[in-house]
Amino acid sequence: MTIAPLRGPTVPVFNAGEIGRRAAARHRRGLPVIGMHFGQPSAGAPAAAIAAAHRALDTDALGYWESEVLRERLAQHYLDEYGVTLPPNRILLTAGASAALVACLAAMFRPGDSVAVLRPGYPAYRNTLRALGLNCVEISCGAEHHYRLTADMLAALQPAPTGLILASPANPTGTMLDREQLATIVSLCRERDILLLSDEIYHGISFGQRAVSALELDPNAVVINSFSKLYRMPGWRLGWLVVPEQWSVPLSSYLINLFLTPSSVAQHAALAAMDVPDDLQSYVEIYRHNRTRLAAGLKSLGIPGIQLPDGAFYLYADLTHLTQDSLQFCRRTVDETGVALAPGIDFDTVDGPRHVRLSFAVSEMEIERALELLAAWLPTYRDR
Ligand SMILES: Cc1ncc(COP(=O)(O)O)c(C=O)c1O
Repeated sequence: MTIAPLRGPTVPVFNAGEIGRRAAARHRRGLPVIGMHFGQPSAGAPAAAIAAAHRALDTDALGYWESEVLRERLAQHYLDEYGVTLPPNRILLTAGASAALVACLAAMFRPGDSVAVLRPGYPAYRNTLRALGLNCVEISCGAEHHYRLTADMLAALQPAPTGLILASPANPTGTMLDREQLATIVSLCRERDILLLSDEIYHGISFGQRAVSALELDPNAVVINSFSKLYRMPGWRLGWLVVPEQWSVPLSSYLINLFLTPSSVAQHAALAAMDVPDDLQSYVEIYRHNRTRLAAGLKSLGIPGIQLPDGAFYLYADLTHLTQDSLQFCRRTVDETGVALAPGIDFDTVDGPRHVRLSFAVSEMEIERALELLAAWLPTYRDR
């Protein structure tokens, strides 16, 4: 029997996935690997979260479940962190920010609508837009713009896009917008009737000022967030959405069709993770140290122009002097040294082939070892 080709839109692969498979193959052969390719903290969830998960496993049937208490706790978080009062019914629990993103894009736009994203930017934005038949308008925000969207860039889009997805801090660059910059963009969106989707997944991980939530500037903003980054629970698959009150019920219908309810055990654990701020902050301090050390280390390896990220846990490095093919570069880095990096092509199809993203959400020892390995290997590297 022949299998017909897929009939729907195809999306490009996440090349970091291939680097991950190469890293796993090395690991199975008993060779060391330093995983700096995926955007995930290498340390596990807070001990309090793991203990809560154990208790839930022992005492709860773990059926389909949505935790009212967690929604209330998240509402409290918005009041404590941002001074924003939210009724808990505006908060919807999701299977990670990924499912939140798919549901928002499917529910809030019609095929043919245009949604603007930044380039470089998180690849799932572009891929999901294409898969849903929406037009992806890429705004080029390279190093010369400090990877930052300005109101002028948005104003220059003619006609105005229907939507804008914005992350601050951003992936892969860690760039943040300050209150004034974000406020200008939020008010321009309102003026031009552009629906802003604010991806706040890296909030809580910043090295100077705290990140500003779009909800502080627009009480009806749509916000995506997750327990994957600050709370160190990427594999637990739990996130949330904040939506205007009138969208809460219709959006819940999308979510039910995507995953019924989010992981029950993760909801128990997340509640505990929210109550250990010192534990969470102690890892932000490790990332702060790693950020400085990695940037200095790469500079001493002759990699120029590294921009220190304001938040998140990535350095986005321009390797133009070394390679025009970041995927091939990352394949060889992982195969020959065990240091796994993400090729820039995932984030930017134009300039990405000359960039790599390094995650520094690893231990301080792993940063030192990765720098040693790269220092020994880079002088032998030739693009071929
Ligand atoms: C900017 C951004 N948004 C969303 C996600 C999806 O995260 P998750 O589905 O694990 O919550 C990621 C993951 O790396 C990300 O970097």
